[in-house]
Amino acid sequence: MCGIVGYCGPKDATDVLLDTLAKLEYRGYDSAGIAVFENNKIRVEKSQGKLSCLIEKIKTDGKPTGHCGIGHTRWATHGEPSDINSHPHGNKRVSIVHNGIIENYKQLKEFLSGQGYAFESQTDTEAVAKLLDYYYDGDPLETIARVLGEIEGSYALGIVFRDFPGRVYSVRKDSPLIIGIGKGENFIASDVSAILQYTRDYYLLEQDEIACVEDNRVRVYDVHKNPVEKELQAATWDVDAAQKGGYEHFMLKEIYEQPTAVRTTITPRITEGMPDFDECGLTDEKLAAYNKIFIVACGTAMHAGMVGKYVIEKLARTEVTVDMASEFRYRDPLITDKDLVILISQSGETADTKEALRISKELGADTLAFVNVKGSSIAREADMVMYTHAGPEISVASTKAFSVQIAMMYMLAFKLAYAKKKITKEVCAAYIAELENIPEALENTLMCKDTCQYVASKIMNADSLLYIGRGLDYALSMEGSLKLKEISYIHSESYAAGELKHGTISLVTEQMPVIAVVTQHDIMEKTISNIKEVKARGAKVVLVCAKDVEIENEAVDYIVRIPVIMDALMPMLAVVPLQLIAYYTAVLRGNDVDQPRNLAKSVTVE
Ligand code: AGP
Repeated sequence: MCGIVGYCGPKDATDVLLDTLAKLEYRGYDSAGIAVFENNKIRVEKSQGKLSCLIEKIKTDGKPTGHCGIGHTRWATHGEPSDINSHPHGNKRVSIVHNGIIENYKQLKEFLSGQGYAFESQTDTEAVAKLLDYYYDGDPLETIARVLGEIEGSYALGIVFRDFPGRVYSVRKDSPLIIGIGKGENFIASDVSAILQYTRDYYLLEQDEIACVEDNRVRVYDVHKNPVEKELQAATWDVDAAQKGGYEHFMLKEIYEQPTAVRTTITPRITEGMPDFDECGLTDEKLAAYNKIFIVACGTAMHAGMVGKYVIEKLARTEVTVDMASEFRYRDPLITDKDLVILISQSGETADTKEALRISKELGADTLAFVNVKGSSIAREADMVMYTHAGPEISVASTKAFSVQIAMMYMLAFKLAYAKKKITKEVCAAYIAELENIPEALENTLMCKDTCQYVASKIMNADSLLYIGRGLDYALSMEGSLKLKEISYIHSESYAAGELKHGTISLVTEQMPVIAVVTQHDIMEKTISNIKEVKARGAKVVLVCAKDVEIENEAVDYIVRIPVIMDALMPMLAVVPLQLIAYYTAVLRGNDVDQPRNLAKSVTVE
């Protein structure tokens, strides 16, 4: 996902832009650039590669000197990573940085070429820059408003006009953008973590609002150029929270933050021992009245939904359908106004999940979002939102967000089961009490770190692995497999243990380790049989299981035992060794754990 920053104030703009861009590196990118007002001209410096490449280029070319400008980290969508495709884009009169996708950029380029414009890049963004130049009549606001009427797609834009040195304009639709409010200086940024070292105060820019940012004032207008009053927000995350806190990687820090994240997320939602969703208006009566529940998300968030499905159906006896958002949005789902659609998203900006939200609302369903980032698009567009309180999740591989997502799935399952009179108040309270024990159980589970590091050393050179389980353990094996793939770059596949004999077991040899998850006591004997089947075919078996699971030593090669809690809640603990095994495997393979290749922290484009 691209990162946008902008600055107006007394400081050296180049320094501030590079500093704030560095705080957005976690979003994943392949090139970077800045545009700074220097002697009343727009000076652009940009290059493919990490920020260090841009800094080298600036050293070679000479540092732009000025106090106002814009900056960008690019995650390529149109056009491969290259110097020329890097942002900013524009000409001597106007320069822009962009996050999003302009869906009609080809038509715009065709029109502009007819007007004599030449294009040097393959990007969609350049079409917007040239269209701004085409419409520019000396009034930036009028120019921007006219261009907004012509472009289709998603965008967060930082714009500078040569005739207005000292001003940064910005506008957004679907891609996030905030306006940082400092003392004698102001900022724009894709998210608040970029500017925390300067200010915690910011405005959230709403759809198609246009901001004119200067060092001593910020004016916001709607697309009809009417002034808009903005409410000042205060970022609760301080700089430390967004730093590594002494851990080698953000991912490890975030794995160890899970006990606190879960405690911070569930505690405010427990009133007199019962689940309390009053903050979003979801009463027991309302919840009980829903006919079906759909859970829609992507990646790890979708795996949290899978855990939710098993628990909600088992306890509340209500049908739950789980969809990958990218599939949901094109399958014409059978949703009515009597259904509840739950969206799960850490970033709250995932394009497919956001579109699934819009489709669900158009179909008349109530929508409930579980989101980790305050004020994000999905949070603001859903009918109801329950924020998870995991704090900033910087590492691309999602860990603590998954834990707080499934914690909220349990809260919802218990609440629904009670609302539908499938369990008594006493049983519901007992489940909640068990959930409140999770943070301590997680602290104990984290003690398996050394065993996981040892297991990682044994699988790190594998070409491919299988993750197997049944029921909730199968849902969890999906998350374990994704974690390993995305950061170690080793192929793996999650497979229902009972399904192996229908074909996939033909893959099993001594070269294919199998990681088996066994926490569900009612079906563990079945999975243990499957373990013996793969062992008999030479597989190296890693067993992640509850402490009390009994199995012959010769049946497995390595065991990671975790504390025993009620079966339904075991995924809260079993995910930790799966995260740690993936983490240490990636570290041993020397990978960029927090920013794996090809990945972005939030996929804000389709
Ligand atoms: C998981 O480790 C990945 N980073 C990815 O699958 C992620 O969960 C997915 O893109 C959904 O992101 P979201 O929760 O921000 O919507």
